[in-house]
Amino acid sequence: MINIDLEKCNLCGLCIKICHEYCLHIENDILTIDYKYCSTCTQCIAVCPKQALTWDNYKPEPFDKSLYPDSKQVDELFKERRTIRDYTDKKINKSILEEITAYAIYAPTHNFNLRAIIIDDDEIISMIDELIYRISVNIYKWLYKPRIVLWLLKLFVPESEFEFLKAKPKLEKAQERKRGFKTKPAAIILIVGDKRVPLSLESAQYALYNIDLYAQVKGLACRNLVGNQMALNRSKKLRNTLDLGNTEKIFGTITLGYPAIKFRNKVVGKHMDIQWNSIKN
Ligand SMILES: Cc1cc2nc3c(=O)[nH]c(=O)nc-3n(C[C@H](O)[C@H](O)[C@H](O)COP(=O)(O)O)c2cc1C
Repeated sequence: MINIDLEKCNLCGLCIKICHEYCLHIENDILTIDYKYCSTCTQCIAVCPKQALTWDNYKPEPFDKSLYPDSKQVDELFKERRTIRDYTDKKINKSILEEITAYAIYAPTHNFNLRAIIIDDDEIISMIDELIYRISVNIYKWLYKPRIVLWLLKLFVPESEFEFLKAKPKLEKAQERKRGFKTKPAAIILIVGDKRVPLSLESAQYALYNIDLYAQVKGLACRNLVGNQMALNRSKKLRNTLDLGNTEKIFGTITLGYPAIKFRNKVVGKHMDIQWNSIKN
């Protein structure tokens, strides 16, 4: 929660200017905050030149620009980040897992209802593995075995035929392995929030990416799982095990482990189409 130290505050008004919820005001020469509208984005704390605003009793620390990575270091970090699905058996230290997860909150977010659940218990990891495996079995059984589905798809939604066929070998491989994961991850982090709050999924994705990048500097590797969320959310057993509330939903899952493979090369030439603006006459 945001606190104001009235003795330090010089009423400069910068926090009022930055607040996008318009919940800070000066009344009778006193800075006040309307907690009802505050989304705890904390930009007011970050902007205050007097460090008069705090989060609980944590004193904000000014930035140290000398620690800033240069563009070459950022280039290395971004291009080295890859999805890794094969892990060694080495367990991740609990304190490292907590350290990594704590960086989720520094991602851009429009949803302050998210929380993280760290799973490093073998039994729960296997339970999730089984759930993911079960979906491949069921999807295969109900959609790929009966030939009529492809036939109907071709007839009524021909544009989805390509995606449909593309998923087939993946499902077949999962069934050969008899598990959802290629190798068992050492840990899984779930980003959970209130399903009624808008933009939860979008915010969760940013949170996961922060975890992904920070994990990388700790020598860990990650895999982002989004497609399987439905199976996890629908499992009563998993919901009970994790003690999820009725309105809570898993919005994102990331598996972590020490990488069993090593990527050696930066992939250059990869690009997204960029279009420059132009006014149509
Ligand atoms: C939103 C999102 C969802 C993803 N879901 C899965 C998934 O369910 N299973 C999986 O193996 N990889 C998943 N991935 C990883 C992508 O398949 C992976 O990013 C892609 O293969 C490109 O590789 P790279 O991450 O090394 O650049 C997901 C990635 C994103 C961004």
